[in-house]
Amino acid sequence: MASINRKTTKNILKLITIQVIVIIAVIYYIIFYHHKPLNISVSEYNKTLNLSKNHNLSIKWNNHPRGVIVTLIGSTNTSIIRVINMIHSVIQFHSVKENFHYPFLIFHDQGLTLSKRQYILSCTNYTNKKINILFILLDYQTNAQISPNSTQRPSIGYRLMCRFWSYDVFYHPAIRNQQYDYLMRMDDDSYFLDKTKLDLFEYIHKQKLDYVYRSLYTDTCKALFSIEKQFTNRTVARTDCIYNNFFLIRLNWFYQSVKIQRFLNELIRDDLMIREYIGDGCVHAAMIDIDKNIRIRKFMRIPYGHNYHIMLMNRGVIYNRVNEFLSQMAISCHQLTIINSYEKNFKKIQISLQK
Ligand SMILES: *[C@@H]1O[C@H](CO)[C@@H](O)[C@H](O)[C@H]1NC(C)=O
Ligand SMILES: *[C@@H]1O[C@H](CO)[C@@H](O)[C@H](O)[C@H]1NC(C)=O
Ligand SMILES: *[C@@H]1O[C@H](CO)[C@@H](O)[C@H](O)[C@H]1NC(C)=O
Ligand SMILES: *[C@@H]1O[C@H](CO)[C@@H](O)[C@H](O)[C@H]1NC(C)=O
Ligand SMILES: *[C@@H]1O[C@H](CO)[C@@H](O)[C@H](O)[C@H]1NC(C)=O
Ligand SMILES: *[C@@H]1O[C@H](CO)[C@@H](O)[C@H](O)[C@H]1NC(C)=O
Ligand SMILES: *[C@@H]1O[C@H](CO)[C@@H](O)[C@H](O)[C@H]1NC(C)=O
Repeated sequence: MASINRKTTKNILKLITIQVIVIIAVIYYIIFYHHKPLNISVSEYNKTLNLSKNHNLSIKWNNHPRGVIVTLIGSTNTSIIRVINMIHSVIQFHSVKENFHYPFLIFHDQGLTLSKRQYILSCTNYTNKKINILFILLDYQTNAQISPNSTQRPSIGYRLMCRFWSYDVFYHPAIRNQQYDYLMRMDDDSYFLDKTKLDLFEYIHKQKLDYVYRSLYTDTCKALFSIEKQFTNRTVARTDCIYNNFFLIRLNWFYQSVKIQRFLNELIRDDLMIREYIGDGCVHAAMIDIDKNIRIRKFMRIPYGHNYHIMLMNRGVIYNRVNEFLSQMAISCHQLTIINSYEKNFKKIQISLQK
């Protein structure tokens, strides 16, 4: 009897463990793979950059560092309402002196029609504030195919997004020609949830840092390992990656590091990033390991949210699913919606726009 009971208990424990693992896996999936992929056609690999397009913004920098906030969005209504919410949060909470606003570059696919772009502009046409938003059509195509033994699911669009944040964005003429010094990534579902209390571009500049991030997460980087091990003494694939959706980088560090450039060339050369799933957060973590001279900081003071992931000042990441959060965002044109605490509610801030 006793032995049967022990066996039953063991089995129940086993079952519970399996269930917990499955639940964690599902949550991970929702968090990291739920993004709508970009609508990119799969044909000849061709990063068609229209060099005759004028990607120039005329910004009066007034001694501010040349910083740019970059977003890559899909063209669904959800992406659009989220990106407006993200911009509101930056304008509201990124503490920049002298009523200065760093420009936004929004990379998008064909689906983001003129009327959708105009909608975004009209919802960020603030009273007493002029902000610069530049839309850039990302018109690339690839004939690379997902390797049949690539067991991880992300679509070609998702993989192109990973490559975009690992490589392409840094070489796009909209970034290169403007000679920006620093780039900050915000995704459409990123937001600041309180005053940053300092200008993050001033911070990276004054502290002479090359890379600033907020948090890490765990991913599998097996495919990356084949390249990464040629550049480090690593003996197993990494699992610690830069939490996607937010980072600041000094662009000249990136361009001038010979090791990083060699590493990226290896990654890009034969479409490995398309054939296999390689998260951009893993690529960034690898870059940081490869260049030993980097000045890097995990900056926990940034009150940052990504979807239901809340990072209060000097605190770790918690997952706080607030059910009405996304439906509230439907009215993002006139309202900033954020989850700003560990409690199950959200905060709404009215946004004043030009009539
Ligand atoms: C890429 O596109 C350009 C312009 O559409 C074209 O001239 C060029 O041949 C293409 N390159 C490849 C490799 O298909
Ligand atoms: C490139 O952009 C210019 C200016 O917007 C436009 O006139 C031209 O047709 C574009 N070329 C291609 C190949 O898309
Ligand atoms: C954009 O700015 C760069 C650098 O200031 C300049 O070389 C280039 O000619 C400008 N391009 C256009 C299309 O105005
Ligand atoms: C997206 O929004 C537009 C404008 O409000 C609306 O006409 C369209 O039906 C919406 N599309 C979807 C898929 O909800
Ligand atoms: C912003 O508002 C002003 C004043 O109503 C208007 O003239 C302008 O066209 C608006 N801009 C956009 C992009 O909606
Ligand atoms: C996928 O399979 C091919 C052919 O069997 C093999 O050459 C390649 O190394 C495999 N890739 C990975 C990442 O295992
Ligand atoms: C790997 O380890 C060897 C021996 O400790 C060392 O000489 C070499 O510099 C290391 N390589 C890298 C890329 O860290």
